[in-house]
Amino acid sequence: MSARTLLLARPLLQRSFVAAPLRLSAIATAARGNASSTTSQGGKTFPQADQAKESFRARRPVENLIVNDHRSFEELYERYQGTKGTGPAALETKQAIVNEFVREVAQHSVAEETVVYSLIDKLVDEKVGDQLRHDHLKVKEALFKLDKINVGDRGFDELFTKIVSMLKTHAKEEETRQLPALRAKIPDEKERIELSAKFLRAKVISPTRPHPNAPDKPAALEILAGLPVAPIDKLRDQTRSFAERRVPQE
Ligand SMILES: [Fe+2]
Ligand SMILES: [Fe+2]
Repeated sequence: MSARTLLLARPLLQRSFVAAPLRLSAIATAARGNASSTTSQGGKTFPQADQAKESFRARRPVENLIVNDHRSFEELYERYQGTKGTGPAALETKQAIVNEFVREVAQHSVAEETVVYSLIDKLVDEKVGDQLRHDHLKVKEALFKLDKINVGDRGFDELFTKIVSMLKTHAKEEETRQLPALRAKIPDEKERIELSAKFLRAKVISPTRPHPNAPDKPAALEILAGLPVAPIDKLRDQTRSFAERRVPQE
């Protein structure tokens, strides 16, 4: 993308309340998975840039990471609902929460499809894997619509609530049925911790926005790395503000 193209595209890219300089060098940074958000635990704050390092020191089995992501979606929604007021500051806070929610759900979905659902296809039942991917498609389509409008727009809260409800149903299904089934097929905890490393790595290189038309049955992680949408998403993220993540990944 040329500097001129970027300059022309900039007004289209700027949707957030907090604008940040758009730099060509951001492409390289974005491709490495860096972003402006942070995660925090017990008062400590961890920059998202550490996400990549975390992928090499996974300590807990993959089902724990998946459950934590689900709890983080819920926590972000609760924080959104608990943010009162209609002034610019409240709207900015709420938009940052939604931006973080969109990114977390988008990356979680691709990581699951790549690392977990491919194993469910092989070890449990491909029909089950296809059903889970179908659920994801419905969420991605709704999330895509949400990502095109802003907090405070007509219908925003209803759509956000609908997405959270869809996700809760899907997460319950995974937590009560598919993850226990996978755990039974892979009883060695070490192997499931190795899956965590793959899961974290997949999240780092995944697109940060919903792409309902992207393939959801990738044969290998490398396909993800080659998806042009991931660095473009991360470049666009430079103009967005993100709320902190409060539920740890592991
Ligand atoms: Fe899922
Ligand atoms: Fe999930």
